[in-house]
Amino acid sequence: MPGSGARIHAVVNQKGGVGKTTTAINLATALAATGRRTLVVDLDPQGNASTGLGIGPDRRSLGAWDLMFAGAGPGEAAVATAIAGFDLVPSTARLFGAELELAGVSSRETRLRGALRGAGGIYDYVLLDCPPSLGLLTVNALTAARRVLVPLQTEFLALEGLVLLKRTVEAVRARLNPDLAYAGILLTMSDRRNRLSTEVEADVRRHPEFGPLVYDTVIPRNVRVSEAPSHGKPVIVYDMRASGSQAYIRFAGEFLRREEGAA
Ligand SMILES: Nc1ncnc2c1ncn2[C@@H]1O[C@H](COP(=O)(O)OP(=O)(O)OP(=O)(O)O)[C@@H](O)[C@H]1O
Ligand SMILES: [Mg+2]
Repeated sequence: MPGSGARIHAVVNQKGGVGKTTTAINLATALAATGRRTLVVDLDPQGNASTGLGIGPDRRSLGAWDLMFAGAGPGEAAVATAIAGFDLVPSTARLFGAELELAGVSSRETRLRGALRGAGGIYDYVLLDCPPSLGLLTVNALTAARRVLVPLQTEFLALEGLVLLKRTVEAVRARLNPDLAYAGILLTMSDRRNRLSTEVEADVRRHPEFGPLVYDTVIPRNVRVSEAPSHGKPVIVYDMRASGSQAYIRFAGEFLRREEGAA
């Protein structure tokens, strides 16, 4: 990726438990495996990305809070994960107060963008793992990013959630970040034996606006994926042969073809 700076993607969906964190850490693992230096920023006070990568509280001296409030750069706040080429800016306890703190400061929407300016010299990809809300942390991510990656669980009301997210993306684009565009929509936790799941998938793919954004790769529901975080590993590392791992590896290939064109 000659001289193009870091490609910053916000991994966003205001609905909880749809696979944002799983997607961020497995995509980052696959990107790092292809030699792309990758950073995940854990923007969720729950800290699931940090925990799921085996980065315990003892290794979280600086975190996403320090990027936004203490002038720390991504290189300073990042810690190495067990995967070569994949670093993490962890979540720390202070991040729990960040929504309120942001509300009270100037440049409340652009703090993260400012902090990530220095990322281009260090990383090829930066993935921002957002909390399940459209609050100021997510708005900071959408303001800092060039692309929005939306994990979507194929379930009842999936399209309604997308419409709400789209409004926020449009508001951020209009006011703060004119270059913001969608990377794509990744269908997650799919169960093709479940009729509702297949119907929702068909509805989303048929949708005039969202359909073209949907990746061909679908992530199946797979128990190995849900086991991996308690072992502190991305599922791709925990059990590479699992159906969920194979799907995330295929997804990373599709993601890269969309991002960088045919290699
Ligand atoms: N394909 C899958 N198959 C089975 N379980 C999965 C799959 N993807 C994610 N999970 C599990 O579902 C739960 C929610 O996933 P994840 O944490 O990635 O979602 P999230 O959108 O980041 O959630 P939150 O909104 O709370 O941050 C986790 O326990 C995760 O291990
Ligand atoms: Mg999460």
